[in-house]
Amino acid sequence: MKNIAILASGSGSNAENIASYFKGKESARVSLIICNNPQAYVIERAKRLGIECKVITKKEFMEADSTIALLKEHCIDFIVLAGFLLLVPEKLIKAYPGKIVNIHPALLPKHGGKGMYGDNVHKAVVECGDTESGITIHLIDEEYDKGTTFFQAKCPVLPTDTPDDVAAKVHALEYEHFPHVIEEIIATL
Ligand code: GAR
Repeated sequence: MKNIAILASGSGSNAENIASYFKGKESARVSLIICNNPQAYVIERAKRLGIECKVITKKEFMEADSTIALLKEHCIDFIVLAGFLLLVPEKLIKAYPGKIVNIHPALLPKHGGKGMYGDNVHKAVVECGDTESGITIHLIDEEYDKGTTFFQAKCPVLPTDTPDDVAAKVHALEYEHFPHVIEEIIATL
């Protein structure tokens, strides 16, 4: 049984979807949620799911030592960033080499980088007149949205689509694919 930690900064709908997917499975479980935003709805979701949720400050996260200690305390094998907005410090990447994945709500390398998260990404897709968007699940390294890509899935973007329409299509892809991709990666650990 592998232990997954999810790092999230906002609503946490992916965190909940992943936790529900692994509930009752023998391969892995979500045993810790770490959040850097005390107002984030993911904290409520964690309570409801009965998963320990630790709220940390940006400073604590950037210094990394207390986060690494927390992860080790919970015997965490694999880390999933699901709507987590801080850059992962090098120390943490070194502590979990090849074991941190992120989901980005667009087809990287398009619409990635600092400031490109959530609705900002969907607005950029519509403003650029893109005819497709999607999701990218990739390994984390020292730069935003630059690590090796494991998986992409696409959805069409119609000329009449608003950023909210694109967000809905992208969320549907996230819910469908992210847990399976995590499961596949964990099976190789
Ligand atoms: C998701 O769409 C995720 O892909 C995105 O934030 C959303 C979080 O939703 N992540 C990024 O933009 C990271 N650059 P959720 O909190 O409901 O899971």
